[in-house]
Amino acid sequence: MSTILYNDQFVPRKEGKVDIEDRGYQFGDGIYEVFRVYHGKVFLMEWHLDRLQRSIKELYLTLPYPIQQIEKNIYALIEKNGLIEGTVYLQITRGATSRNHLFPTNTNPVLIAYTTHLKREEAVVKDGIKVSLLDDIRWLRCDIKTLNLLGNVLNKEKAHQEGSSEAIQHRGDIVTEGCTSNVFIVKEGVLITHQADHFILNGITRMYVLELATKLGIKIEERQYTINECLQADEVFITSTGAEVTPVIQIKDHLINQGKPGPITKQLFSEFENEIKRMEKVSQ
Ligand code: PDD
Repeated sequence: MSTILYNDQFVPRKEGKVDIEDRGYQFGDGIYEVFRVYHGKVFLMEWHLDRLQRSIKELYLTLPYPIQQIEKNIYALIEKNGLIEGTVYLQITRGATSRNHLFPTNTNPVLIAYTTHLKREEAVVKDGIKVSLLDDIRWLRCDIKTLNLLGNVLNKEKAHQEGSSEAIQHRGDIVTEGCTSNVFIVKEGVLITHQADHFILNGITRMYVLELATKLGIKIEERQYTINECLQADEVFITSTGAEVTPVIQIKDHLINQGKPGPITKQLFSEFENEIKRMEKVSQ
């Protein structure tokens, strides 16, 4: 039986109970983070903790205890569960009170975290994926990593039913992001991705890939781009904590780069992999 973190206590998973009036459960009133673990180490921990604190602030929530202690507890959880490759899911809700849309005057935020095993899907990363193209039906604060994921869930399911692994979402003519990932396109050697504003989640992997691209001297444009630019792109790929850098080789019936991952995508992925290999050496 795995151990979970419940507020500041480590307890067996079956003891992790949600109060029926927890505001996260009733209103989606809370935030979350998904941390990636490679070789027993959290990848880009500081970046995730910074985004966590930003999400907390945007929802006028408070941390149940200091961020330094949360960081220590995440490492203790990884250790207790012997996690080498996988993820840590952590969420904080506004806690439980009698149901009322207004913020309660005194409530205690509830933090839970648990680990999952996850292996890198090398075939997917090498061969690429097919994606759907769907209307972005989410609210206008997609920059906050909240528990309110119904728009993402409905589109992800629709994509699945269409035989795709992800959907590229758009508002009108403008491509925003995936249901669980950010979207990049490459045109004539320029890397283009939607700017980090209220329409997208500023993914940790997105920021990391932009940093890698800068190091590699690849020209970057963070701006809005159209569906047509996406379909006419030389390369398309998605990024996320789970998907890392995954090539998109087909959007609906339309092939990208004749159905093969492109050179810049491969270059960025290989830099990404090198960084993970460096983490292995550090942990030895
Ligand atoms: N999702 N955009 C959306 C809407 C996402 O849900 C995610 C990640 C991303 C990529 O963010 P990052 O690189 O920080 O993982 C972008 C996670 C992993 C999830 O909900 O499981």
